[in-house]
Amino acid sequence: MTSLIWLLLLVAATRSEGAKPNVVYILVDDLGWGDVNYASVPEIPTPNIKQLKDEGIEMTQFYTQSKCTASRAAIMSGRYPYKMGVSTQNVFTDYSNNFLSLDNKLMPAYLKDQGYATHLVGKWHLGFCNELHTPIKRGFDTSFGSYSNVESHFIGTNIGKPFDWNLNNEPYFQANGSYSTHLVTNRTRQLLRDHFANPASPIFIYAAYLAPHKPVEVPPAYYKKTDCSKLALKEPVEYYSHRMKYCGMVVAVDEGIGQIVQTLRDLGQLENTVIIFHSDNGAALDETHASSWDLRGSKQSIYEGGHRSRSIIRVGKNFQPDQGTPSVYHGLVHEVDMLPTLFQAAGGDPSTLPGGLDGRSAWHNILYNRPSDRHWMVYNVDSVLQQHAIRLKNATHNFKLVFDSKSKVAGWRADVDPRPLAEHMEDPLQRNKSFNSPKDRYRLFNMDINPTELEPQIKDGVELVRDAALDHPEVKALLVQAIQDLLPEEGAQPTFIKFPGRGHPGHPNYWTNIYGYPAFHFGGCNADGSIVTEW
Ligand SMILES: *[C@@H]1O[C@H](CO)[C@@H](O)[C@H](O)[C@H]1NC(C)=O
Ligand SMILES: *[C@@H]1O[C@H](CO)[C@@H](O)[C@H](O)[C@H]1NC(C)=O
Ligand SMILES: *[C@@H]1O[C@H](CO)[C@@H](O)[C@H](O)[C@H]1NC(C)=O
Ligand SMILES: *[C@@H]1O[C@H](CO)[C@@H](O)[C@H](O)[C@H]1NC(C)=O
Repeated sequence: MTSLIWLLLLVAATRSEGAKPNVVYILVDDLGWGDVNYASVPEIPTPNIKQLKDEGIEMTQFYTQSKCTASRAAIMSGRYPYKMGVSTQNVFTDYSNNFLSLDNKLMPAYLKDQGYATHLVGKWHLGFCNELHTPIKRGFDTSFGSYSNVESHFIGTNIGKPFDWNLNNEPYFQANGSYSTHLVTNRTRQLLRDHFANPASPIFIYAAYLAPHKPVEVPPAYYKKTDCSKLALKEPVEYYSHRMKYCGMVVAVDEGIGQIVQTLRDLGQLENTVIIFHSDNGAALDETHASSWDLRGSKQSIYEGGHRSRSIIRVGKNFQPDQGTPSVYHGLVHEVDMLPTLFQAAGGDPSTLPGGLDGRSAWHNILYNRPSDRHWMVYNVDSVLQQHAIRLKNATHNFKLVFDSKSKVAGWRADVDPRPLAEHMEDPLQRNKSFNSPKDRYRLFNMDINPTELEPQIKDGVELVRDAALDHPEVKALLVQAIQDLLPEEGAQPTFIKFPGRGHPGHPNYWTNIYGYPAFHFGGCNADGSIVTEW
């Protein structure tokens, strides 16, 4: 009997000590809350994402930034973008010298310290004006993908726009004409096969799909030969003819995720791997006909539809405790937590991480289904847009305070109508409305009973949606003060210099109409971002 216990202990020890999980971090671009087949209006077939969820842990309270650059900066650095001057509406453009400050050590560099092979596949979007700003100088062993927002998902086919697909900072012309989603999927699978042919270390792949971001482009088979085609039968036709094509883009990504998981399975590595899945931000309603329904708001808004993402962590069985691992995790997790979480999963001690990080490891809390110890979360602080929000979530309190100075605020419909949201679900036009701002720009929402952020509403003397601040004035006062306290932490917006069009010799267009090359060789920016004017 005793020896059996010792044997069990030994097995447990060998499972957790020494061995490190592979990590495949799948980030998708602008996928909305309503764009998976387990959404409240299941219009888009995503069987592979659903299977990943069913086999893994769905994180129901997982939050991101509401736009691209900010979100990637948060994941990679473990810091809130508002502190780094990258929280407002501007994303890094290809005509500017912007880059994520080199003061930040990034996720791949931490995992490299833990002995990982590290690879970037897909979209970077954190600066490339100097070679030192690029992925392979920031902790990735290899990079394959785009530096910027590409102008077409069929790479290189938007004539007049620079060619933006590279392999380790050299243009990769074989990608010309290929579909971005296929490039990301295939490269990820190839890296896995090559790595496990002769594995000398664990592997980390950050697979950042460019889809389903605009432009809405996909080989037609993905919507004509799939259940997306059923959307063509729905009213209003104008809306659904667009959403059908968007649906095809999501299906292509879903297919890719299924293929990546299958490759891991074929290699016998699936249960040795941690797979993360989420979107960088919420739906881009107007641009792509994505949907954040039934959350309020969308990409670039401070409301849930901008910040709350469908999210999964699939922890391979060889890294799960014998019991306790849930299928759903309701604790609050923010994308800045993923750096410390994965660092700990990789065998690192999170207490050795630098003090300035905003993320905290959720590794054990998720694995053992313990309450999150993240009781405060900053959605954003943005003095440019005058939009801030903060969350308090503990065993007794679950509140969000929004400050929104806009005269028109995001909604789900023209005016607040507390009829059950379900009544409107079939009407897509209700998914895209804004309405006049209430007088009090600070509004408190009780997220336990009002997760879709309905505004207070009284009709014919009947209180249909009650203002949370009436019952919890002390919480509102506490959260108003908390936002006030955050304002001084906001980092200065860096003054990025726009390259003066094609005329500036530092701009890649000036040379070849190809990004990254040979501008690096001649110098676009100096390492500090100042523009090279002579050589
Ligand atoms: C990519 O292919 C298109 C034709 O499909 C061509 O016009 C373009 O020059 C090619 N781009 C590069 C960088 O080779
Ligand atoms: C991706 O791989 C498939 C086969 O697995 C192949 O048919 C396709 O051409 C590849 N696409 C790209 C863009 O590499
Ligand atoms: C959303 O509403 C805006 C104006 O309020 C309109 O321009 C846009 O086309 C609408 N988008 C969709 C997807 O209906
Ligand atoms: C939750 O936070 C509030 C505000 O800080 C505090 O008053 C309350 O005691 C906390 N609840 C628990 C269970 O810690």
